[in-house]
Amino acid sequence: MTEDAHRAADIIREKTGGAQPTAGIILGSGLGDLGSEIENVTIVSYADLPGFPKPGVEGHAGNLLVGQLGGATVVCLQGRAHSYEGDLKAMVTPVRTFKTLGCEVMFATNAAGCLVADRAPGSLMAISDHINLQPGNPLTGPNDDSFGPRFPNMVDAYDPALRALLKKTASELGITLYEGVYAGYLGPNFETPAEIRAFRTLGADAVGMSTVPEVLVARHCGLRVAAVSVLTNLAAGMSDEPLTHKQTLHFADLAAKDLTRLVKRFLSDLAGA
Ligand code: HPA
Repeated sequence: MTEDAHRAADIIREKTGGAQPTAGIILGSGLGDLGSEIENVTIVSYADLPGFPKPGVEGHAGNLLVGQLGGATVVCLQGRAHSYEGDLKAMVTPVRTFKTLGCEVMFATNAAGCLVADRAPGSLMAISDHINLQPGNPLTGPNDDSFGPRFPNMVDAYDPALRALLKKTASELGITLYEGVYAGYLGPNFETPAEIRAFRTLGADAVGMSTVPEVLVARHCGLRVAAVSVLTNLAAGMSDEPLTHKQTLHFADLAAKDLTRLVKRFLSDLAGA
């Protein structure tokens, strides 16, 4: 896996004339449009990158993009693998490739169900912490000491300074940005209403089927993490609306404009900070 990240980084450097990105972005379900805002873009198919996943979910492309966004050089994953596809370690190489390319920050986005009744579908939530409810962890097995320690710390995993900057940026842009705890569920089924009640008791504000594995890998190798959920629906049992992936894509699409503005300005503020 170490080798895959280094080989992938070499291929990306070769195709981009030696690009030196500072941030790695992961686009969630239906949020791929943010990628079209990247300027001077080089597109690399995951098929050309060793250790990269073959995304299989509608709304997820399988391309890595490199270029400029908000004045920063970024590398962006248009499409991620989910643990429910069967490989808990599928995001290890992409995240370590961010690190190997020189990124300092990983910005993750996702679509999530909302456990707080008065937050409207299509609104945004900065993740302040997570609860790993997925039955596994991408860091199990022999530790790769060249990337990080055997027992990584998860206090302040969602970087407080980046969260403060996100909050400030959102407020300047007039975008409502909630903050809360994300529960990572394996899926692929949506949760039962009883599970949602249980997760609320545990302290979750949103639930989704991604992001936790990537954040574990990112924190292990020392990337600073910012993450935003698009709350595409009230979680199971909280409304009469049936849960569907179509609904996820619809509200992700509605929120994509705000998310794009937020991420762009955030990157530009970060570069100037
Ligand atoms: N649950 C899990 N994942 C999701 C949801 C949900 O309600 N909405 C979008 N992704």
